[in-house]
Amino acid sequence: MKIAILPGDGIGTEIVAEAVKVLKVLDLPFEMETAPVGGAAYEAAGHPLPESTLALAKAADAVLFGAVGDWKYDTLERRLRPEQAILGLRRELGLFANFRPAICYPELTHASSLKPELVAGLDILIIRELTGDIYFGQPRGRRTAVDGHFPGAEEAFDTMRYSRPEIERIAHVAFQAARKRNRKVTSVDKANVLETFQFWKDVVTEVHAQYPDVELEHMYVDNAAMQLVKAPKKFDVVVTGNMFGDILSDEAAMLTGSIGMLPSASLNAANQGLYEPSHGSAPDIAGKGIANPLATILSAAMMLKFSLNQPEAAARIEAAVQSVLSQGLRTADIHSEGTRKVSTREMGDAVVAAVTAGVTMTKTIKG
Ligand code: IPM
Ligand code: MG
Repeated sequence: MKIAILPGDGIGTEIVAEAVKVLKVLDLPFEMETAPVGGAAYEAAGHPLPESTLALAKAADAVLFGAVGDWKYDTLERRLRPEQAILGLRRELGLFANFRPAICYPELTHASSLKPELVAGLDILIIRELTGDIYFGQPRGRRTAVDGHFPGAEEAFDTMRYSRPEIERIAHVAFQAARKRNRKVTSVDKANVLETFQFWKDVVTEVHAQYPDVELEHMYVDNAAMQLVKAPKKFDVVVTGNMFGDILSDEAAMLTGSIGMLPSASLNAANQGLYEPSHGSAPDIAGKGIANPLATILSAAMMLKFSLNQPEAAARIEAAVQSVLSQGLRTADIHSEGTRKVSTREMGDAVVAAVTAGVTMTKTIKG
């Protein structure tokens, strides 16, 4: 089993180091190889996704990814910005299915900005299509307008588009995930305005015919944004396009009070995957040793389950994370009165200790 380790920028290096420590203590036959990505790779090799890093990622069974980005790269031309590394990996590896669970851990119910009763026990899964939509649609660019409100003016444009196979495959992923959970899929669209998302809705409805045991509802994206803060527990699996999924998954993450806790997986048709925390590189706290490594550690658990066929090892990590939370250990982002504030490294060490002690599971991340 070969794992490509791509720590990236900002807190990426700190949190990935803790996840690697946890992987090592499992004593499984992994081969881990590290490579630069994002701003770090731009500094080292002049490109955010160097050929050698891409080759390593392609050859690996799974990629453990930290985070990329820093404000200091905002003025670089777009193709050299750190974000292009993650977009390039998604495109080159065909990682079309992005799983973003939003789970409210019982110990952290009060960290949410919503009332505790709205989020207690929350466990939803956002499935975001990751290689299509306006993110990748061609053509795009700048030009002189020939029509519109201001003919002759300078304008910029992007293209929102989805093909039938792209929608079909993500719909299958969503229905199959729902079968392992509470058998309900909410497909989020903007069919009232956009051709692309009327087509999305039609194709999802067709695919649903193959899953009579799963309930399907359709929801407009603006309403979905509202329902997520009004009654988030009514959702089970949410499936949507690339851009709506980007926005809604940040919203859902915040419901749990702690984006520092949420893992994610991005899979291709061969179950090769890229695993990363749902949060970003947080340059403002980088190097201070205060970042929460649990999202990355839980991403490593997802990796073991989805790409490396090691569900027991994944369960050991998830149980260890539960255990450190119930021991009252908290990094700064989730710290509250009556709990013990720990550093990034102390949190990683505590998870390592719990894995070693073999604590058993109380709850696993579903689907
Ligand atoms: C995410 C991020 C990325 C995205 C950026 C960094 C390109 O926001 O993974 O959600 O927009 O997909
Ligand atoms: Mg995002």
